[in-house]
Amino acid sequence: MTRTPVNVTVTGAAGQIGYALLFRIASGQLLGADVPVKLRLLEITPALKAAEGTAMELDDCAFPLLQGIDISDDPNVAFDGANVALLVGARPRTKGMERGDLLQANGGIFKPQGKAINDHAADDIKVLVVGNPANTNALIAQAAAPDVPAERFTAMTRLDHNRALTQLAKKTGTSVADIKRLTIWGNHSATQYPDIFHATVAGKNAAEVVNDEKWLAEDFIPTVAKRGAAIIEARGASSAASAANAAIDHVHTWVNGTAEGDWTSMGIPSDGSYGVPEGLISSFPVTTKNGSYEIVQGLDVNEFSRARIDASVKELEEEREAVRALGLV
Ligand code: NAD
Ligand code: LMR
Repeated sequence: MTRTPVNVTVTGAAGQIGYALLFRIASGQLLGADVPVKLRLLEITPALKAAEGTAMELDDCAFPLLQGIDISDDPNVAFDGANVALLVGARPRTKGMERGDLLQANGGIFKPQGKAINDHAADDIKVLVVGNPANTNALIAQAAAPDVPAERFTAMTRLDHNRALTQLAKKTGTSVADIKRLTIWGNHSATQYPDIFHATVAGKNAAEVVNDEKWLAEDFIPTVAKRGAAIIEARGASSAASAANAAIDHVHTWVNGTAEGDWTSMGIPSDGSYGVPEGLISSFPVTTKNGSYEIVQGLDVNEFSRARIDASVKELEEEREAVRALGLV
């Protein structure tokens, strides 16, 4: 049986994450080795030629699953019929730019893209926002798409999740495959809270295995939360291959489900769980099944965790206030 191709729209396709992402999507790693895909690349006009170059290389890979590539600088065209949208292109902060300027510039990108998704995407559209500030950009896009169920707009904290897995595996002398139920709470920013209190390492409670609150507070949490800045410092450019890898993981898990007994972290619109104000796009522990996700309920949140979740959620509330003041949500 020939399957209908899935339309995957990628914005910022000519950027560094785009270059690390597109080949993996086309090879079947996003949706599955038996799922044909059509790529829709959205770029700004000056970057269209570079996107064409990437499309030429995609052609030259002769991926059996890749059934077409369209390139456009018009969101209404790029999101037409989209089943999956990866919003990677964003306005980076440049010298002298204030936080409000950055939010306004990104509003100019994510508001029209949200509207184009609202008007043109397929009914089953799933959106992942990667471009920073990812949680608030997702909120802006979602607010501009009132006809799309709000839960289809998600923000990427899977890179933070993966970073935390590796740090914990190194500390405990185990493999990332031995670790389950780790959680990133809050914002994809330095205030995020990587939580190991419910995680297990080879079946044992991770916090008990580690048994070192100083390491947790002074090493693990800051290392994970500031990893993005450390990569920029080391590479002279922000994370690209690891960010693309996390985007693949995020969508693959959303579509194909979490493993029994495990969960993942996704930035999703809050339903008020764990005291996170409704509507904020915040990272939670989630399980996924049949293309839907649910927040893991009933976890005990200790004082150590509560203070850190609250601090990150406060930052998200401030970002929401700032974009409200700009009329973006
Ligand atoms: P990049 O500058 O290499 O590429 C961005 C691309 O987006 C450029 O090609 C640019 O032309 C394009 N673009 C800009 N405005 C656009 C628009 N309106 N429509 C379509 N395309 C547009 O940046 P990158 O390294 O690929 O990173 C992209 C974003 O991802 C940045 O905001 C970065 O901070 C963010 N990021 C997020 C995470 C995460 O974990 N959530 C991790 C790494 C990077
Ligand atoms: C990351 O976590 O690597 C990025 O979000 C950092 C950045 O500012 O682009």
